[in-house]
Amino acid sequence: MKILVTGGCGYIGSHTVVDLLNENYDVVIIDNLSNSKKDVIEKIKKITGKNVTFYEFDMCSKEKLREVFEKENISSVIHFAGLKAVGESVEKPLMYYENNLISTLNLLELMKEYNVKKIVFSSSATVYGNPKSLPIKEDFPLSTTNPYGTTKLMIERILKDLYQANNSFDITILRYFNPIGAHFSGLLGEDPNGIPNNLMPYIMKVAVGKLPILSVFGNDYNTIDGTGVRDYVHVCDLSYGHVLALKNPKPGLKIYNLGTGRGTSVLELINTFEKVNGVTINKKIVGRREGDIDACYASIDKAKEELGFEPRYNIEDMCKDSYNFVKKSN
Ligand code: NAD
Ligand code: UD1
Repeated sequence: MKILVTGGCGYIGSHTVVDLLNENYDVVIIDNLSNSKKDVIEKIKKITGKNVTFYEFDMCSKEKLREVFEKENISSVIHFAGLKAVGESVEKPLMYYENNLISTLNLLELMKEYNVKKIVFSSSATVYGNPKSLPIKEDFPLSTTNPYGTTKLMIERILKDLYQANNSFDITILRYFNPIGAHFSGLLGEDPNGIPNNLMPYIMKVAVGKLPILSVFGNDYNTIDGTGVRDYVHVCDLSYGHVLALKNPKPGLKIYNLGTGRGTSVLELINTFEKVNGVTINKKIVGRREGDIDACYASIDKAKEELGFEPRYNIEDMCKDSYNFVKKSN
């Protein structure tokens, strides 16, 4: 079985490619390297001892995408490719709508034309907006607060309409909570350019002295210690969720949360990182970040029951693996 992985050089995509190769799938990657590096391909080969086919181009080019469908005998698609920085999407909304929507429309049109019916799509917990209660279940109301989130919600809607019109499609929408951690080899992980927006990449840069101090955004939230609570999930658990989604025999359109079902506050995450890695994270409390919510964590009952999804790694593991990666890559 040949799986097309779009955005396969990125953070979650690269870990998923490793899992797919380890499960003996053939893998074809498309990535324009707008937020990743080519050496990821070599690292994937080093970890798995297997080969992968790589195409470097922008999926907004339908003609280039057609060449891949023409040449490769694709049986299923996992669609990670997309831009994902919330703040940037507020500043450059048209770039986000164009990149995320056009690439997805091109992909879906070609899947239809070449009779490829199975797709797993990367959505996000951001589509739940400010949830009315916790834990968040898949049938909660949906809303977004920024263009990035709106592209995810729009693509979910497109997929639902496509299925409505053609129910031979087999569509899985995975709503990720907060992926952190890295491959245990230290070869793959998240290493954003410039100043990171997300908490764990920021902690990692402070830990290795690349940034001087972490700002904790608010300590007056309605949570255990006043700092924001999120559902952090190890990227290797998340990536394996995609293998389970591919293997899921249930047909139709399915939606699953992928997280751990457990909330961790900003201070709890920092304390754990310091404890397991024997480092000190220089930090200061500052005001809230606009748009942030108090707490967000998943109900993963549906993914457990229908996919057999069972997170294997805890917060300690996530902190250890993140530090191992950042030490090796600096
Ligand atoms: P990432 O930026 O590391 O990976 C995305 C990859 O897609 C990058 O390698 C990038 O170069 C590529 N890409 C972007 N636009 C492209 C295009 N037009 N053509 C070809 N390649 C293109 O991001 P990630 O963290 O691995 O996220 C993967 C997916 O999961 C994204 O769709 C993201 O929105 C979604 N997601 C991520 C998170 C998270 O916290 N990391 C949370 C929820 C959802
Ligand atoms: C962010 C995105 C969300 C995306 C998710 C997944 C925003 C507003 N939301 O969510 O759309 O789906 O990432 O990657 O960007 N924090 C600090 N200091 C920092 C960075 C973060 O205190 O330097 C706090 C935040 O206030 C929050 C927690 O850490 O309470 C987690 O933040 P972050 O990693 O950015 O993730 P989310 O806010 O959940």
